[in-house]
Amino acid sequence: MRTSLAVMTMVMGVGWGQEAAVIPRPVSATNRPGVFHWKPGMKLVVDARSAAAGRLLAAALGTPAEEGAAKAAAGIRVRVDPALQVPSDEGYVLDVGPKLISILGKGPAGAFYGAQTLLQLMPAGQGSEVRCVRVKDYPRFAWRGMMLDTARHFMPKPAVLKFIDLLAMQKLNVLQLHLTDDQGWRIEIRKYPMLTGTGSMRKETREGHENKRQGFDGKPHGGYYSQADIAEIVKYAQDRFVEIVPEIEMPGHAQAALAAYPELGNTNQKLDVFTQWGVNKNVFNVNEKTILFLQDVLDEVMQMFPGKFIHVGGDEVPLDQWKASPAAQARMKQLGLEEVVELHGYFIRRMDQFITAHGRRLVGWDEILEGGVDKSATVMSWRGSKGGIAAAKDGHDVVMAPTTHTYFDYYQAKDPKEPLAIGGFLPLEKVYSFEPVPAELTPEQGKHILGTQGQAWTEYMPTPSHVEYMLFPRLTALAEVAWTPAARKDYADFRKRLPGMEQRWKALGVNYRPSGN
Ligand code: ACM
Repeated sequence: MRTSLAVMTMVMGVGWGQEAAVIPRPVSATNRPGVFHWKPGMKLVVDARSAAAGRLLAAALGTPAEEGAAKAAAGIRVRVDPALQVPSDEGYVLDVGPKLISILGKGPAGAFYGAQTLLQLMPAGQGSEVRCVRVKDYPRFAWRGMMLDTARHFMPKPAVLKFIDLLAMQKLNVLQLHLTDDQGWRIEIRKYPMLTGTGSMRKETREGHENKRQGFDGKPHGGYYSQADIAEIVKYAQDRFVEIVPEIEMPGHAQAALAAYPELGNTNQKLDVFTQWGVNKNVFNVNEKTILFLQDVLDEVMQMFPGKFIHVGGDEVPLDQWKASPAAQARMKQLGLEEVVELHGYFIRRMDQFITAHGRRLVGWDEILEGGVDKSATVMSWRGSKGGIAAAKDGHDVVMAPTTHTYFDYYQAKDPKEPLAIGGFLPLEKVYSFEPVPAELTPEQGKHILGTQGQAWTEYMPTPSHVEYMLFPRLTALAEVAWTPAARKDYADFRKRLPGMEQRWKALGVNYRPSGN
C-alpha cells in the first residue's frame, strides 16, 4: 500500500498530474511547456526582504542562499515586489521556466509562501525536477490558525518548533498556545513564581476517559516554558510568519493558579493542581487584587509576545462560587450589577481595557458575549457558529472555531482501533466542507470573519506524536478552507493531492493518519 502510494506520488510530485499538487490549492496554477531541472551548482539568489524564503529553500535544497541582484544564468531567484498585483502581502507569483524559477512576493510572507509552494512541486526529499507552471496565489482569510493545548499535557519546546514548521508548510499563520488551565500553568511569570513553582506540576492524571471514572495513573506530569523558551518560540515563529497568540485562561479554568495562590479563589480551600478532566467550579474571584494580579500576568505576557492578539479564554465559567461568595455579592452591589453573569462581563471588560490600553486586542471564546463586552473584543466562536454570527452582526471581529468542524480532539474514524478520544466524530471530508462565513451575514458583516482555526485540546493526546496523529491530515483540510477561494475548493481533487503531502510528512517523521484507511 505504502509502496504504490510512493510510486504514484513520485509521478504526481514531478507535476505530471492535471494541476500542480499543492495544498492549500492555489488561486490559479497554469501549466506551461517544459521542465526545470535543478542541478548541483545552480544558484539560489534572494533579496534582503526574502531572507526567510531563502533560508527555507537553502535548507531544503542544500544550497546556500546568496543575497543580491546577481544575474544567475540558471537557478532560483526570489524577490519582494510591493507592486505585485495580488490583494495581500502574503500573495506571490511563482514562475517555473525551463531555465529559471522566479518567486515574487508582494511582501516577505508572500515570498516565503511562494517558496513553500515550490517545495511542494518538488518530490519529497529529492528536489530535482519541476514541471513548468505559473502560480498566482494569495489567501482568502487573514487568520489561518491552530490552537495547541499545552496545559492538559505539556508539549516540550522542540515539539512546538516542529509544529510551527508544519503549520507554515500549509500557509497557516496563527498558533494559539493554550498556556494555562486547571491541570497546569505552563508559562514563567517572574512576578509570581509559584504559578509555575506549584502550578506547573500535577501529581497524577485521570486514566482512561473521564466519564468512566477508572482512577488515576499515579504519575506526576508537568513542565513549563521559561521566558527564554518563549523568546525562542516567538522568534522561530516570526521567521516563519506565524503569530503566536498566547492564551491565559480566566476567570475559569483556573485551578492550577489557585493551587499556587489560594487567595485568588473564592473558598479559601487548599486545592491541588487538578488531576481530572471536565468543567471545574474553582474560578478566580472578582476582587480588585485578583484583577490587578492577572493584569500583572498579562503585562509580562505582552512583553513576551509581540503579536496583536492576547487571548483570555473566558469559556466554561460556572457561576456557583460567585453566587455563594459574600465578597462576590458585595462586588456586584458595589458595581450596580443585577445578574451574576454580569460579573463575568465586568471581569473580561477590565482585561479588554487593559489590553487595549497597551495597543493590543483581546480575543476570547464566545461566552464573553454573555456578560457583555465592547466591540474591541474579538470573539472565537466554538459552540457552533451562533456566537460568531451574533458577534459579527454586532460589529465584533470573529474567528470561526466551531466544534462541528474544527475540533480535532474528536474521533476522525469509526474504526474501533482508533485511540481514545474525547468523543464526537469529525471525519476529514466534514472538515473540508466547512464554510467559515455563514450565509446569514451580509457582505459587510461577513468582513468581520477574520478566518478560522483548528483546536487540539490535549486531554486525550498525551504526546506530540499523538497530537500529530489527530491533526494530520485534518489540519491540512482546514488549511485549504482558510486559504483557498471557496469556488476553488474540491474535495475529490484535494484527496488526489493528499498523497504528495503524506510523503512529505513521512520524510519529516510526522505521525499522520494515512488517509487511505
Ligand atoms: C472550549 O472548548 N471550551 C473553548
